Amino acid sequence: MQQEDATRLIEDWTRTHGRTRDRLLPLLHMLQEEIGFIDDAAIPAIATALNLSRADVHGVVTFYHDFRRTPAGRHVVKLCRAESCQARGATAIEKAATDRLGVPMGETRPDGQVTLEPVYCLGLCAVGPNALVDGRPVARIDAATLDRIAQEIAA
Ligand code: FES
Repeated sequence: MQQEDATRLIEDWTRTHGRTRDRLLPLLHMLQEEIGFIDDAAIPAIATALNLSRADVHGVVTFYHDFRRTPAGRHVVKLCRAESCQARGATAIEKAATDRLGVPMGETRPDGQVTLEPVYCLGLCAVGPNALVDGRPVARIDAATLDRIAQEIAA
C-alpha cells in the first residue's frame, strides 16, 4: 500500500471518528488492520490529523508491541514467553522453533514466509507451552507440534 493510501485512510477515518488525541490508539489499530503495519512514513500524517507531535505518535507506536513497524510474513507464529509457559519448557521450545522455522525470534524469514514473535500469556497457562499460529491457539507445544507447524508454513 502506498503512502497516499495511508494518508487517505487516515483522512477518511478521522472524518468519521474525530480528530481528538484519544483517537490515536483506535486510528493505529485501524491502520494496522488495513495495511498490516504502521509505516514510519505515516507518522507525520497521523500526528497532523490528531494535532499531536510526531514524537507523541512515535512513542505510542513503539511502546505497544502489538503494533508492527514492518510487514509481517505470510504466517505469524507467536510463542508465549510468560511465566507459566517458561515453567513448562518454553525456552527450549523457542530455541527449537527458531531452528525448525529458520528465523530468529522477533524477525521475519527473508523469504517472507513466516514471522516469529514473542507473546506474553495467552490465558492458556495450564496447557502450556503455548503459541498462536496465524491467530489460532496451539497448546502443549513439543517437537512434533513444531514439525506440524513448520509443515503448515511450508505448504
Ligand atoms: S503463561 Fe503462557 S499462556 Fe499464560
